[in-house]
Amino acid sequence: MTRRLVIDTDTASDDAVALLMAVAGPDVEVDAVTVVAGNVPLAQGVKNALFTLAFCGAAEVPVHAGLDRPLVRRLGTATDVHGEDGMGDAGIVRSVGEPVAEHAVDALVRLANEAPGERDLVTLGPLTNVAAALVRDRDLLTKYRRTVMMAGSPDSVGNVTATAEFNVWADPEAASIVLNAPGEKVLVGWNISRRQAVMGPAEQQRLATLGTARARFVSDINVKVAEYCRTVTGLDGYDLPDPVTMAVAMRPELVRRSEKLPVSVALGDELRGQLIIDHRVAGRAGASAEVVWEIDEQGWKELLFAACSED
Ligand code: RIB
Ligand code: CA
Repeated sequence: MTRRLVIDTDTASDDAVALLMAVAGPDVEVDAVTVVAGNVPLAQGVKNALFTLAFCGAAEVPVHAGLDRPLVRRLGTATDVHGEDGMGDAGIVRSVGEPVAEHAVDALVRLANEAPGERDLVTLGPLTNVAAALVRDRDLLTKYRRTVMMAGSPDSVGNVTATAEFNVWADPEAASIVLNAPGEKVLVGWNISRRQAVMGPAEQQRLATLGTARARFVSDINVKVAEYCRTVTGLDGYDLPDPVTMAVAMRPELVRRSEKLPVSVALGDELRGQLIIDHRVAGRAGASAEVVWEIDEQGWKELLFAACSED
């Protein structure tokens, strides 16, 4: 069965690796990429998406520019994590092609309604575009087969703050709208990324020995993230939140343990973006997302290395 994906992204270095995996996926079709402001300003995210798709031989995939700031708050980027260009400031990204004219929010609504139940939505950035599309079409996420999100940290260990993960922190109101919307949602949080998606010395060595242009691309654009992990989050390498989320979207069987739980978002300034999960029995009646607690780490990394082995 070919899995047809619509990917909403704020295209920084790990998003680019996730795009590379989707394009390389043997039974995956990328029907569209929609871009949202987040890690980098919107224009840079669009440029990074266009370049990455062209680099992977998928320049035909339409790229739609979306919203350039969160629904309510000012845009907070993550250039301190990914570099000014979001791609490690490695001097790799150049202008290639143009986005299509259709706005990302219009595309998200159209793609769901023209083929209900036939496409999966994968979100790799702040949920601003998806929330805006939900304002237009309340049942949007019931028309995607399922929505697989890199969003939040269900154990409240944060990366951008002590308790919040960047995508939810950047636009918590949007995340709240999405989590409250009907439809099957799978939440792959920073708990998975920091525990089962770290490219440590052994993985980095294996990547280097592949000797392919794609392997070099992945290493080069993640140099800044590796530095951030070493000095801020204290990981032994660099973590790949969006690629591990893409792996779950491509291979749902990689999920070893998950729970359907009621998930809401803290909107106050002190705990902005923290996920609030009600584990009490009474709370479970309002389960809003399938929270992933454990995946097959070896399995997902084999998918990544396979994608990087091609040239
Ligand atoms: O917190 C992780 C998320 O923000 C990922 O989408 C990654 O792109 C990071 O910048
Ligand atoms: Ca991202």
